[in-house]
Amino acid sequence: MLKRTDYLTKRYGLKESWKLSHYERDGGYRQARRVMRMKREDIVEEAKAANLRGRGGAGFPLGVKWGFMPPKSDKPHYLVVNADEGEPGTFKDRTLMELDPHAIIEGCIIGCRGIGANTAYIYVRDELHLAKDRLWGAIAEAKKKGYLGDRPFSVNNHPVEVYVHSGAGAYICGEESALLNSLEGKRGEPRLRPPFPAQAGAFGMPTTVNNIESIASMPTIFALGGDNFSKLSSLHDMRDGGCRLFGVSGHVKTPGVFECAVGLTLRELIYELGGGVAGGELLGVIPGGCSTPILRADEVVDAPGEADPLHRWHGQSVLDVPMGVDTMRGLGTMAGTCCAIVLSDKACPVRAMHNLVRFYRHESCGQCTPCREGNGWLERITSKIVAGEASLDELDRIHEIAGNIMGNTICAFGEGSAMPVLGFLKKFRPEFEAYVRTRGASSPGGLALSETLGLSDS
Ligand SMILES: Cc1cc2nc3c(=O)[nH]c(=O)nc-3n(C[C@H](O)[C@H](O)[C@H](O)COP(=O)(O)O)c2cc1C
Repeated sequence: MLKRTDYLTKRYGLKESWKLSHYERDGGYRQARRVMRMKREDIVEEAKAANLRGRGGAGFPLGVKWGFMPPKSDKPHYLVVNADEGEPGTFKDRTLMELDPHAIIEGCIIGCRGIGANTAYIYVRDELHLAKDRLWGAIAEAKKKGYLGDRPFSVNNHPVEVYVHSGAGAYICGEESALLNSLEGKRGEPRLRPPFPAQAGAFGMPTTVNNIESIASMPTIFALGGDNFSKLSSLHDMRDGGCRLFGVSGHVKTPGVFECAVGLTLRELIYELGGGVAGGELLGVIPGGCSTPILRADEVVDAPGEADPLHRWHGQSVLDVPMGVDTMRGLGTMAGTCCAIVLSDKACPVRAMHNLVRFYRHESCGQCTPCREGNGWLERITSKIVAGEASLDELDRIHEIAGNIMGNTICAFGEGSAMPVLGFLKKFRPEFEAYVRTRGASSPGGLALSETLGLSDS
């Protein structure tokens, strides 16, 4: 059942919702004050109990990540907050920065205290000028009130400073190790791991990189208590806790960002929050940002074995499975950022995939040969298909090339570019074959997918 919450979005819609006065009226900065007097290990335990799975896409448990930071060291530690938000279809983080920046600053204070850092850098997608302005404004207000600086809350032992850093204008800079290079003023290319950021991250020092929604959830987690936060979710038993922002765009009547308990189904997201499919019937849905493989509207869960984590949904539509990190993985896709892109049956899956391929070819940083060359080849072949000039065996070549990218790159961009291609081809093979055979005549004409995927068709 649809369970909307308003912990993260409570102030959205208020006049000048980004001002400190609103935040303080709702009890803002009380949790930051409290953690200043808590022990580091207790803060990490509270974060672990929340079962917050990283909101940036990979879904790694936040508390566990914080626990990787060295307990005590003579090196500076850093918190790096990822607000690059470059994934087509994903537009939730920007609302937090623009409408409620103080929750992020308070989250940074809690995070810094939890990982033993004195400095947080918020790395913001460069184009988001309003978001950056609002963050800087919030930092100034928090400093003036003594929440940041040398002696936050008049406590001596834990200075905290927060800085906003403009992104470098490339999708790859959202990948955490490329982001760290970019933050250091280097070219935004991913780093080999190990060492992991907790060992050697920003400026070679122990660092935690968290998505900005993960960090903005901290005041709520500490106000409710980690366990209570976790139990908001219907997937609490799968260690996927709390509430989060869900986005829906594409062919829906009311696209937007909505806050709900974790465990919302795609059907609820599309038909209740998104107002239903615009201009046709549902063809498929990309569940969590464009790197997550598409699900067809007519797919059912195939999990006959009792030991299968998805067994309780066996035989049901995939649209009725709660969206969680492990449930979506069980369906062969990912929850990602939980920002779904909806395709109606007026959309052409061939052209939709082509749009994605063009995006990934353009955004590959070029460091790894399989990704650089593979995405180039994928673009050339899919362009031929769209132009009605390809042969059927080139569909198999797509499979081969995308398969060669998977697992052969330094960072997850490789998988992120190959998985959706393989997904489209697997789920829509008959449509692809018909398109090739008829040289595009079988394609539904209707809606321009460039709009769906936020990309230019030119
Ligand atoms: C190509 C690529 C782009 C990414 N872009 C973002 C992004 O814009 N924002 C984000 O939070 N995570 C992004 N990620 C995931 C980050 O690498 C990292 O997992 C995340 O920031 C960790 O935060 P979390 O654990 O709180 O989710 C991206 C990953 C890849 C491979």
